[in-house]
Amino acid sequence: MATERTVSDLMSHPVVTAQPAETVAAAAQNMRESKVGSVVVIDHDDRAIGILTERDMIRLAAAGSDASTAKVSEWMTADPYTVAPDVEARAAFASLAERGYRHIPVVDGNGTGRKLVGIVSMRDLMRVAMIQPADAQAHEVPKGLEGVVVADTTVGDVRGLEGFYHYRQYSAVDLAKSRPIEDVWQLLFENRLPATLEEREAFAANIRPRRVIPPAVADVLPAIARAGEVFVPLDALRTALSQYGAAAGFRASHDIDHETLYDNAMSTCAVVPTLICALWRLRRGLEPVAPRDDLAYAANYLYMMQGEVPTPEYAAAVEKYLISTVDHGFNASTFTARVITSTGADLGAAVVGAIGALSGPLHGGAPSRALQMLDEIGTADRAEPWLRDAVERGDRLMGFGHRVYKTDDPRSLMLREVADSLGGDKMELARHIEATAVRVLDELKPGRRLYTNVEFYAGIVMDRCGIPRELFTPTFAASRVIGWCAHILEQAADNRLIRPSAQYVGPPPPQPVPAIAP
Ligand SMILES: CC(C)(COP(=O)(O)OP(=O)(O)OC[C@H]1O[C@@H](n2cnc3c(N)ncnc32)[C@H](O)[C@@H]1OP(=O)(O)O)[C@@H](O)C(=O)NCCC(=O)NCCS
Repeated sequence: MATERTVSDLMSHPVVTAQPAETVAAAAQNMRESKVGSVVVIDHDDRAIGILTERDMIRLAAAGSDASTAKVSEWMTADPYTVAPDVEARAAFASLAERGYRHIPVVDGNGTGRKLVGIVSMRDLMRVAMIQPADAQAHEVPKGLEGVVVADTTVGDVRGLEGFYHYRQYSAVDLAKSRPIEDVWQLLFENRLPATLEEREAFAANIRPRRVIPPAVADVLPAIARAGEVFVPLDALRTALSQYGAAAGFRASHDIDHETLYDNAMSTCAVVPTLICALWRLRRGLEPVAPRDDLAYAANYLYMMQGEVPTPEYAAAVEKYLISTVDHGFNASTFTARVITSTGADLGAAVVGAIGALSGPLHGGAPSRALQMLDEIGTADRAEPWLRDAVERGDRLMGFGHRVYKTDDPRSLMLREVADSLGGDKMELARHIEATAVRVLDELKPGRRLYTNVEFYAGIVMDRCGIPRELFTPTFAASRVIGWCAHILEQAADNRLIRPSAQYVGPPPPQPVPAIAP
């Protein structure tokens, strides 16, 4: 086997550095000029005392701080994780993969003699780790790929420890509070928010006609809606969307230009809410309700579902929920959409695949399960014994805990505000159950940091706005399709086939092929 490559073979040097007292603006300019994504902050003895990354800049912008006065020391991550130059690349990757860092300072020596000698990117370490024989690397990639960085994206990111997530450079919660969903859609598709009402209207006008279901799809919807004894709305949606892509003549992303793929993406995102509502109504023996041009996105969605124009309050509440779920890091369905796009397949195939991934209970979840828990508890006085029993039995409390967020889920905080403003009989009970559950979990599962997740208040908001429980997850799909399509456009624009490896762990080959018994 070739000699192992070490961190020093892969690191870049000299390192772009900054002083702690420098302004963030000066450090940012240095990063831009040097075309790097981070700077290492050093003291006068050349010791690495911090790291400042593009993510910190976004955090600073999101906090509304002024980069020309903010000091590097205030925004850097202090005492960054470092690696020694003589460590083998595979070993460095194995120990750092789960931490989610992108750049690691390389430090030589020990004690006060520790000097910064380079910087190494996780990408480079990963590349080397991945070309080792499978038996050598098997233990290095965490099951479920948790923490493994598999792509670069400018669509958005989630920062679990801080309880923050963003779409491009804006806090998703700020967007939900200040912009309609069409603006967020434009931000994700075109990398910019509309600056004027005219720009906003031009984008919305492009969406409107695309909301109508074409005849070739409308004709088969009743059969799709009525297939199967049990109505599974996401299964019906993916079947209808498959027909839609074929009828609209979507072609392999590999064979079309950006404008055509963008056009496919606009049409798909626009028609999904109409399909969801039409399928659901047909299943219930009702006529589908056609979209109305005078209604904005969320109001139109509720109208097509319920057949009545909703109050502005309900439309606004649902719109905030929709915006808050447009994108959320490299979740399973987003990854699925990108893998399918990486093969050059058409956009319809990628979205149908993503819906398939979302339909799994470990992903699409079910905000309805949190609501079910509320129903089962029933009254405030039953909350404490019910919750205690459940946790002591080893059950999971629905709507609590998150793989990434180890603090309050920012979506849950926002939706709690929305739910509060809507009022309703469930709200008081929900607040009581939340407070009791957090206390009980802290007592019985100390140190696990379990708080409400997006599902807890999402269910309450949707229920209050008249969305039936079986449409909770499809409603989530109606907004997430915008995120999927943004990722599809990004993947197609800079594509490379995603084709990882697996470690073979079966009986050693080659064995003689046995003859069939007579
Ligand atoms: C979301 C979820 C799957 C994330 O789980 P995870 O990151 O894999 O966390 P783990 O399964 O490693 O759990 C860590 C510990 O917290 C406990 N825990 C996590 N979520 C819990 C919950 N909702 N209720 C009770 N205990 C919980 C686990 O039992 C485990 O305890 P242990 O250390 O004694 O074994 C999990 O929190 C969960 O099942 N929540 C309920 C379902 C839900 O609301 N899903 C929607 C998510 S948006």
